[in-house]
Amino acid sequence: MSFLNNIVSSIKESQQSASSVVGIDIGSSSVKVVEIEDRKDVLTLLTYGEIQLGPYVGKEIGKSVNLEPKEEQQALVDVIRESAVKSRSGVFAMPLSSSFVTNVSIDAPPDSDLSSMVRVEARKVIPASLSEVTLDWAEVGLDKLEDSNDEKHNVLIAAIQNNALERFKILMQFAGMKNPPTEIECFSTIRSLYRKSEDHVAIVDLGASSAKLYIAQKGLLMRMYRIRAGGTLATKAIADDLEIDFATAEDKKYMASSDEDQFSKIKSAHNRSYDRAFREFRQVIAEYEKRSGVSIDTVYLSGGGALFPGIDSHLQNSLEKPVFKSNPFSKISYPAFMEDTMHEVGPTFTVALGAALRAFE
Ligand SMILES: Nc1ncnc2c1ncn2[C@@H]1O[C@H](COP(=O)(O)OP(=O)(O)OP(=O)(O)O)[C@@H](O)[C@H]1O
Ligand SMILES: [Mg+2]
Repeated sequence: MSFLNNIVSSIKESQQSASSVVGIDIGSSSVKVVEIEDRKDVLTLLTYGEIQLGPYVGKEIGKSVNLEPKEEQQALVDVIRESAVKSRSGVFAMPLSSSFVTNVSIDAPPDSDLSSMVRVEARKVIPASLSEVTLDWAEVGLDKLEDSNDEKHNVLIAAIQNNALERFKILMQFAGMKNPPTEIECFSTIRSLYRKSEDHVAIVDLGASSAKLYIAQKGLLMRMYRIRAGGTLATKAIADDLEIDFATAEDKKYMASSDEDQFSKIKSAHNRSYDRAFREFRQVIAEYEKRSGVSIDTVYLSGGGALFPGIDSHLQNSLEKPVFKSNPFSKISYPAFMEDTMHEVGPTFTVALGAALRAFE
């Protein structure tokens, strides 16, 4: 089922045999890891952890940063050590920022061989030469055209920059993982939250550098939309409104609670920075519903940005759809005393856990 198997099989040499696996999410502000194990057919949490990247380049916590390979390696080694991850079987979630995912419509008779047509379309939509990327695609839908026998093939195209693939391959080797399966983070996210009982869902991931919207049908990605507005921008808005520096604003955002004096100021600066993203998400969902004739009745909210108090109801009001804070850990087993913590941190680890789950499909 998982898309991008082509990319994976071409770079994968060693298949995992160990029963424990670590999912790795290199976000723009922090690296997240989740290690799980198959205990007699029960997927069980072994450990999880997060490390902030800002300090590796002398920047504040919560800022989205670009790291040199050396700093990135150090961060990954540190988070693996500090979270006591033992497994050297990993699944790596490639950041969307190194990737390109989009949908195209191709008019062609049914049963056409689409591969050459996909390459033509890909050349038009991918902002890089096809020789610089590893390309994968899948047909995700078929619409009948009213005025002819032809059909419109709805094709999902995904591409990863080759130099990013190479860079992350070296990074993984550095952490002692040889050629781990690799997929773009959107597929990890969907796997993490997919439930058989829900045919159509939308997922909103509020990261540090960007907000992403995924629309999935039966666990398959149908639409992806990304906007460069994330937690870093929200912190800047709080800093501006309260006339404080970034680090203090990030602290206030983290600790924000509705019973403090400044909360309404913090909240209004914070939520305002997502106005455009949420408005555009609403349009993308509406357009998808119109074209596909289905209605999306469940929206999951994930990413560190989901932890801000009340952001779920703000999104719910903006989309006019029920919004649920994601708790991917509900898919696996963990000690009962951790229940509250898992609920609290769940949204942050959606990608890392989804990546780990791939090994057990
Ligand atoms: N408790 C919290 N309250 C409010 N905001 C929070 C909280 N915890 C984390 N955040 C914010 O979430 C953002 C980080 O989220 P996340 O870890 O999902 O981003 P990322 O994966 O590093 O970034 P991206 O997905 O954009 O590459 C930061 O802006 C951070 O300030
Ligand atoms: Mg992220």
